[in-house]
Amino acid sequence: MTAPSPRPSPSQGTDDFARGLAGVVAGKTAICSLDGDLRYRGYSIAPLAEAGDFEDVAHLLLHGHLPTASEHAAFSRRVHEAAASIDPTVIETLRVLAARTPNASPMDALRTGVSLLGQIELDQQPGPHAALVSQAERLLGQVPAILAAWLDLSAGRPVAPWPEGSIAAALLERLTGRKPSAAEASIFGTTLVLYAEHEFNASTFAARTVVSTGSDMHSGIVAAIGALKGPLHGGANEQVLEALAEIGSLDRVIPWLEERFAAKKVVMGFGHRVYKDGDVRAKILGGMCRRLADDGEGLALERLADAVEQMMLDRKNLRPNLDWPAARVYHALGLPVRVFTPIFVVARMSGWTAHVIEQVGDNRIIRPLSIYSGVAPRDWQPRDAR
Ligand code: COA
Repeated sequence: MTAPSPRPSPSQGTDDFARGLAGVVAGKTAICSLDGDLRYRGYSIAPLAEAGDFEDVAHLLLHGHLPTASEHAAFSRRVHEAAASIDPTVIETLRVLAARTPNASPMDALRTGVSLLGQIELDQQPGPHAALVSQAERLLGQVPAILAAWLDLSAGRPVAPWPEGSIAAALLERLTGRKPSAAEASIFGTTLVLYAEHEFNASTFAARTVVSTGSDMHSGIVAAIGALKGPLHGGANEQVLEALAEIGSLDRVIPWLEERFAAKKVVMGFGHRVYKDGDVRAKILGGMCRRLADDGEGLALERLADAVEQMMLDRKNLRPNLDWPAARVYHALGLPVRVFTPIFVVARMSGWTAHVIEQVGDNRIIRPLSIYSGVAPRDWQPRDAR
């Protein structure tokens, strides 16, 4: 147990704090480790990503072990049933919202959808461990189904049924409107595995903070979705593709980046709070991404990406994070940009719910300190004397 640090006193004029909590160890977790390699519950990320089986990984994160064949089948069936039976009140409410705001971000629809589920299920406070795991399994199925339903509703279409198959294959089918090939479903599954979990990132920490107050799982996940939406976190994968489209051709790479550097704007898909020598997930997916690009447009995009990578390394000593190759994979799979961050939500639901369960299992309210930096003490005056 770490001893609490002494409370900083403003009277000492201290400025000793970690901006953005950088480098601060805020707790323990048995779910994921980032030292050297990325590991989910002890397993290195490389073989998990190569296998690309999201249900395997979600089971590992939630139940603590890789499933046997029968556990995998039962787990997949429970998740599938949750996806195929979304409460009609959620769909009807989203239908009203889609008519009013068809261009709203699907991230907002997911945040609202999870909030609606919490209210419908009368989720007030964390239940026992088994109830939390069962809630987590339902959310794993409900969230991708809500995403697909929102895309139908906002386009004025009836909501199509949830297809058979793994989460990766079914979601890809719903998002593209056609059955994916085995290779497409597999690389999509790999991206879900890579996005599934990442220790105390901003959205996971937001979820843990919410449930540390004794609040419920759905409230924690709503907070996490809100945090992931930001462009410095999950929102980056959408902006990666927008940036590549804006650059357009190899001769534009240098002027585009120079302009960006001069304006002191970050380049999405580069840098990371934890990985300063490169994100292991970006290395794994970057290789797959290049193998996927077999036609003219795909190869041109990869050449553009390589040129940006090289200049970011030469000029800023910054390497890509996972969002850099993930955006290109999603583009190659024919997915529209606005679903990139929601796909991250679908994947990270496994990590978030595992962290919520871990936090509830050994809880102490998360409540850090701050250094007061406002005006000196002053006297209150009645309104007519101000
Ligand atoms: N483009 C340009 N410059 C960047 C950069 C990027 N993507 N990422 C970091 N930098 C710069 C910072 O501005 C800083 O410069 P300075 O020392 O001149 O102020 C320096 O590199 C060090 O950055 P650091 O303080 O270590 O970053 P951070 O830990 O506070 O932030 C991110 C981490 C991820 C938020 C940041 O790298 C970023 O904004 N990346 C782009 C968004 C993104 O891809 N997010 C997805 C993360 S998985």
